Amino acid sequence: MTDQTPDVDALRSHVDALFPDLQADLEALVRIPSVSAAAFDQAHVVASADAVATLLREAGLPDVRVLRSDRPDGTPGAPAVVARKPAPSGAPTVLLYAHHDVQPPGDAALWSTDPFTPTQVGERLYGRGAADDKAGIVAHVGALRAIAALGEELPVGVTVFVEGEEESGSPSFHQFLTDHRDLLAADVIVVADSTNWKVGVPALTTSLRGLVDGVVELQALDHAVHSGMYGGPVLDANTLIARLIATLHDDAGNVAVEGLVHAAEPEVDYDEADFRTDSSLLPQMSLAGEGSIAGRLWSKPALSVIGIDATSVAHASNTIAASARAKISLRLAPGQDPAAASTALRTHLEKHAPFGARVTWHDGERGKPFAAPQDSTAMQAARWAFAAAWGTDPVDIGTGGSIPFIADLLDVFPQAAILVTGVEDPDSRAHAADESVHLGELRKVVLAEALLLRKVADLA
Ligand code: BES
Ligand code: MN
Repeated sequence: MTDQTPDVDALRSHVDALFPDLQADLEALVRIPSVSAAAFDQAHVVASADAVATLLREAGLPDVRVLRSDRPDGTPGAPAVVARKPAPSGAPTVLLYAHHDVQPPGDAALWSTDPFTPTQVGERLYGRGAADDKAGIVAHVGALRAIAALGEELPVGVTVFVEGEEESGSPSFHQFLTDHRDLLAADVIVVADSTNWKVGVPALTTSLRGLVDGVVELQALDHAVHSGMYGGPVLDANTLIARLIATLHDDAGNVAVEGLVHAAEPEVDYDEADFRTDSSLLPQMSLAGEGSIAGRLWSKPALSVIGIDATSVAHASNTIAASARAKISLRLAPGQDPAAASTALRTHLEKHAPFGARVTWHDGERGKPFAAPQDSTAMQAARWAFAAAWGTDPVDIGTGGSIPFIADLLDVFPQAAILVTGVEDPDSRAHAADESVHLGELRKVVLAEALLLRKVADLA
């Protein structure tokens, strides 16, 4: 693995020279509010796909297409960009993944700056998608530019695949794989959509949790009634759904749904003080669950109530509510079958119906977890590239987040080595207000990816 081993310093100075333009390109992408959630204007998702296609064309990839496949309900999926340059003879092909859609901005009042006006403060660039995952797109573009700046042809075949609906659970991806399987075939897959360990310490993500979600509906009465006239023998639906939700964890805060998989405890130690800082937990709070912190995050299920439809305080009157709903998101440990988890959750909710209330479960999304099958030469190449770019050895981490399409991709390309990388750090606040990317880290990610592409050329 030495022929292509690049001159790290030469490449680093090219990345440094290229970086102002790259940052400007990231800022231009952040200005496009490409929220893939159905309630938002999908014209912006089309515009961001086009902007990404232009960047990839300009980065020297000769075959750039914007493609869509249908979702299971027959509606068209979001536009995905596929950009390719075939492999020199005998060289492997690398698939570089990122997504150009973003999460909704949420309550604008919680942001310190406008979510779609990229704003640099110190070393961080703020804006929705600045980290998740427009920084991933820029990492791929930057790596291609850096190699071109060396005056070299790409030593490997490259396919860049930038999806437009990851934040909506990649609903058309299955069909996309059927329609365009040959376009995505690769020996090594780099998914730049995860996090590093901390600023200054890179990471290779070797496991991700899966996900099932859905809505539980609780009905207690046919219609609302006067709370004075009927209160006492009858509990309101808000109280009843609170009691139902409360059964989902035990007193220590472990998920109480029976039959869910727990994976092996990770070897990495996530320091409690760091975790408290990263999560912004109030100092007086005690932690929920048992076992190591990394284990609770990466190897065990976690259950959150992510929305409740109940009478709002503004509309409160002295009535007993007849019904209420809650959206539940259950993260799954590596090894968990999502269908089995969904059944276990439904069974739990039906069994714990408080005071005999009518409890109905409406299935939502399902995403499979991921655990890297085994250490590959591509993983070793990535660790070398990270160590060279950061000057520090990377950590193998799991993550509590989910990228469900990875498992689907591996079903189709079981021989491919998969590398889950990324630009985020614990303070990137993906999905939340004040999302940001650390620009010094982004620079290192670009360098590491350029180094990796050249190193991988030797692995054929
Ligand atoms: N980039 C995240 C996944 C992630 C989060 C990786 C944290 C590493 C650390 C991704 O864009 C994401 O948020 N995925 C969704 C998937 C869902 C919509 C099916 C998630 O995890 O909520
Ligand atoms: Mn992402």
